[in-house]
Amino acid sequence: MPTLSKRQFLKTLVGTAALSTWAGLEDTLANVAYVPSVTLAQQEDFWAKIRAVYPVTTDFIQLENGYYSLAAQPVLDSYMQHIRNVNTVSSYYMRTRQFADKRESQKQLATLLGCSSDELIITRNTTESLDTVIAGLNWKAGDEVIMAAQDYGAMLDMFRLQARRYGIVTQTLSLPNHPNSDSEIVSLYEKAITPKTRLLMVCHMVNITGQILPIRQIVEMAHRHSVDVLVDGAHAFGQLNFTLADLGGCDYYASSLHKWLGTPLGAGLLYVRRDKIPGLWPMFADSSVADDDIRKLNHTGTHPVATDLAIQDAIRFHKAIGIERKEARLRYLQRYWTNQVRHYPNIVLNTPEMPARSCAIANVGIIGKSPAELAKTLFDTYKIFTVAIDSDPANVHGVRVTPHLYTTTAELDSFVRALKELAA
Ligand SMILES: Cc1ncc(COP(=O)(O)O)c(C=O)c1O
Repeated sequence: MPTLSKRQFLKTLVGTAALSTWAGLEDTLANVAYVPSVTLAQQEDFWAKIRAVYPVTTDFIQLENGYYSLAAQPVLDSYMQHIRNVNTVSSYYMRTRQFADKRESQKQLATLLGCSSDELIITRNTTESLDTVIAGLNWKAGDEVIMAAQDYGAMLDMFRLQARRYGIVTQTLSLPNHPNSDSEIVSLYEKAITPKTRLLMVCHMVNITGQILPIRQIVEMAHRHSVDVLVDGAHAFGQLNFTLADLGGCDYYASSLHKWLGTPLGAGLLYVRRDKIPGLWPMFADSSVADDDIRKLNHTGTHPVATDLAIQDAIRFHKAIGIERKEARLRYLQRYWTNQVRHYPNIVLNTPEMPARSCAIANVGIIGKSPAELAKTLFDTYKIFTVAIDSDPANVHGVRVTPHLYTTTAELDSFVRALKELAA
């Protein structure tokens, strides 16, 4: 098969359009290299420059960045260039560089997460990652699984499906919105364990309230009972400064990259601890891959490879900003608005107050207004976009509010004014 020289190939793959914006970004960051993250978190002039590298809409105030968040302009430019380049050489790319490039993205993700690249695959999203584990385990009737009412609905559904198919038993606990301690949460999970418990699924960050859970303590407790732990890290990877070493050796970890890493839509990761790989059945067969090789879980068929390539651009942007600065700014933004309404009459915050228990995401309700009504009024009257969360089982009634790096404190001031007017 004819191959292009590395130089010719790079010329095809790397566009020049984006270079000026990358360079501008690097200059901006060089100026703050020695500013501590918590100090920088409060410097609006710096964050205004960061906002300028995102294609933010001016039609409304975007406070629903938890679903998926904007890719920065340099990442978007590179992504478009990848689409064009792949489209130019089409199957030539697919038959030559595709797999090596995907491996490189996988390697860079594994380094960020702190695992070996043969324990991680790139998926389309957290749903695919978690469902690969949930559907891939060799369930026996009577096996028990622990989860929480505050977990993501599609995953609870996936366990219900296994219950119908294999007769597994689901135990669903409910997390307090305002826990007093880590041990209160750990003991809730521990009490749900029985001799039949095989797996415990837990969110690293609860999506509807933003509550961060004590994963390391939960994993260590579960392992003492020989129970495996599947961590839903949809909102933690790219938002919180951690690696797998901080999580006590969890068995499986899943995340989406379009939420907090800033990739274009349709990228996720799944980590499976090496000794757990043989125990999973793949959804799509690939007899060329051994049972103990994680690639057996990654036979995707033909798919949009430009997204795999853009992961490297998103990582470059993410590392340039730096996870410590990112987490500090996101937590600052959330506390900037929540501190102004936490004890305000008729306003109810559904997110823990202690700084370490939350980051960008928080949830707020107004007494006497349904979450749907609140979200609608915020948008129709104030042009502020949030999402309504109204769940009796999860005990959360409010709108989820998620700022991002491109959110300004002026936008949050508008939001606080709106909340206070509506609560009056
Ligand atoms: C906690 C949690 N898990 C899983 C998902 C699913 O993510 P995706 O739609 O990217 O697969 C979400 C999406 O918001 C989530 O918040």
